[in-house]
Amino acid sequence: MDADARSTEATDEPSWLEIEEASPFTAKKTDNTTASSDVRRWSSVVNGTLVVLIMTMTPVLFFLSGGLTSPTVWINSTISSIGTSQTTQRGPKRDVLVGGLLVPGFDEQSCASRYQAAYYHKNMTRPASPYLIKRLREQEALQLRCGPGTEPYTRASERLKSGQTTNDTDDVDGCSYLVLISYRGLGNRMLAMASVFLYALLTNRVLLVDTGYGNTLADLFCEPFPGTTWALPHYFPVENFKELGEDAPESYGNVFVNRSGSVTGLRFVYLHLDHAASPANRLVYCDDHREFLHRAQWAIIRTDQYMAPGLFFNPAYQEELSRLFPKKDSVFYTLSRYLLHPTNDIWGMVTRYYNSYLRNADERLGIQIRVFDNSDKPFQQVLDQILACTSQEHLLPGVVSTSGVAPALPTAGASKSMAVLVTGLSSWYHDNIREMYWKSATIDGEVVSLYQPSHEEHQLWFHSKHDMKALAEIYLLSLTDKIVTSGWSTFGYVGQGIGGHTPWILFRPMNYSEPAPDPPCTKAMSMEPCSHGAPGFECTRKDISTNLDTGVLLPHVRPCEDMSWGLKLTDPAIEKKV
Ligand SMILES: *[C@@H]1O[C@H](CO)[C@@H](O)[C@H](O)[C@H]1NC(C)=O
Ligand SMILES: *[C@@H]1O[C@H](CO)[C@@H](O)[C@H](O)[C@H]1NC(C)=O
Ligand SMILES: *[C@@H]1O[C@H](CO)[C@@H](O)[C@H](O)[C@H]1NC(C)=O
Ligand SMILES: *[C@@H]1O[C@H](CO)[C@@H](O)[C@H](O)[C@H]1NC(C)=O
Repeated sequence: MDADARSTEATDEPSWLEIEEASPFTAKKTDNTTASSDVRRWSSVVNGTLVVLIMTMTPVLFFLSGGLTSPTVWINSTISSIGTSQTTQRGPKRDVLVGGLLVPGFDEQSCASRYQAAYYHKNMTRPASPYLIKRLREQEALQLRCGPGTEPYTRASERLKSGQTTNDTDDVDGCSYLVLISYRGLGNRMLAMASVFLYALLTNRVLLVDTGYGNTLADLFCEPFPGTTWALPHYFPVENFKELGEDAPESYGNVFVNRSGSVTGLRFVYLHLDHAASPANRLVYCDDHREFLHRAQWAIIRTDQYMAPGLFFNPAYQEELSRLFPKKDSVFYTLSRYLLHPTNDIWGMVTRYYNSYLRNADERLGIQIRVFDNSDKPFQQVLDQILACTSQEHLLPGVVSTSGVAPALPTAGASKSMAVLVTGLSSWYHDNIREMYWKSATIDGEVVSLYQPSHEEHQLWFHSKHDMKALAEIYLLSLTDKIVTSGWSTFGYVGQGIGGHTPWILFRPMNYSEPAPDPPCTKAMSMEPCSHGAPGFECTRKDISTNLDTGVLLPHVRPCEDMSWGLKLTDPAIEKKV
């Protein structure tokens, strides 16, 4: 791949990330009807498949989300409808702290997902390494010692405000900061949070997350660090920091290229790692933080993508990364389970839906459908592609014509049941697959049920509310047994990563009016998300004028299946065995 190909692919299509930003839930916010339309919508999902009892339960889901914007939920929430005891009574007791990955001491009622997730997820296939656990405890101590509300934080913000600079952060209370600007869709933001957290861990910085447009962070995620907050306080001394761009004087590219790495006189350094960042700004990936970045007490980072693969090229981090992750395909899986715990309202949606529709099936298949097209119309080609993939990979059972044949009486426990969870913008794909299994019998008598929690019709949520439903769907996808995802979709990456699933990826059609890609899909090499903005140069030479195929430099950082210029982490040893 040459320089032009890479930059063209990332910029030629100005809309693709915007579409992802929209997520399945931003489209069509115009409908002003109330929850009654959602009841209607839900009744169509439920139609003919489940009993009336569930019908009467579903509106509760929506009314519950009524008072979510209260900031008090963030730290003190005491929602009681999700009793831990209820779940813990079922089956054997689980190690809810997953081998020490999670720290004890949080209020269980304020964030039930933290303590209940182990009962829903399978046991972790990649346990956290003792070294990672040690470093997480150190990071927690750092966040507590230097976080908002502490004296070091107050001093650091004053220094940032006054423009007073130092040459060595070690002199300043031993506290330095990494502020993450949140933008784009929920999937992008989650990839950014997990990988920027890793970057904070590697550089010993306190991670602070901008609470986002509409201040939605606290509606979505629990606090990950005990006794402190990761939310950037509302008052932040850098005005308009969300508008920083790669041409800012503080940008890493500018500091490196035009100032020979001198941060003297700069209040902070700005790391611009948007998926379409210039090569000069991508030099951050190769920063030996002992060189100059460490001299900046404040670093502000903007990224909408998964920066972890790029960090593996940096000789300064390689040894540390190997110790943290002996299996390199487990970075997002482990860090997302550590960091991202949905709030009680979202967890309630996840568990109610799971217990109603998915729990009792013998097998659960997730199908995540993302169509990168601005029109609302469904595409027959996409349905064909999904069915070709699920048939070729034996993920869904085939059907036979039983015209005129007398159906057999049901025999208890004789036939396997499969629950298929479909997520996406349109209900058309779900409806068609469901109809196929209604009109025809499966070859081996397997019972196939389809469920789709939401689709774009009748969307009336504010950002917070649609993001909450999106997050619930991401977690539901993670709780399936197998998963089919759409290429290029960060929503799919996050669902597969949290679940620890190696997905079947549907290749992204570049023109949906043309016949579906053949082959329709491929089994991914790992459960890791694809990075859409990795560096195209070697850290030893930092030659940004060339655009190397960095996917051949390391055995564990390889080109993505769904995006030739993207890079993802994999574990070569495991891959060979498969
Ligand atoms: C999962 O982990 C628990 C301990 O938390 C153990 O008792 C159980 O046997 C494990 N299950 C499987 C399927 O490995
Ligand atoms: C900080 O750096 C400036 C310019 O590089 C230098 O003149 C000054 O002596 C340094 N101060 C300390 C405390 O190292
Ligand atoms: C270096 O400075 C020049 C002139 O101000 C500017 O055009 C260029 O964008 C800067 N380079 C970087 C990487 O910021
Ligand atoms: C997509 O394919 C159709 C049918 O081949 C063609 O008419 C159309 O121009 C193509 N669209 C784009 C944007 O290439």
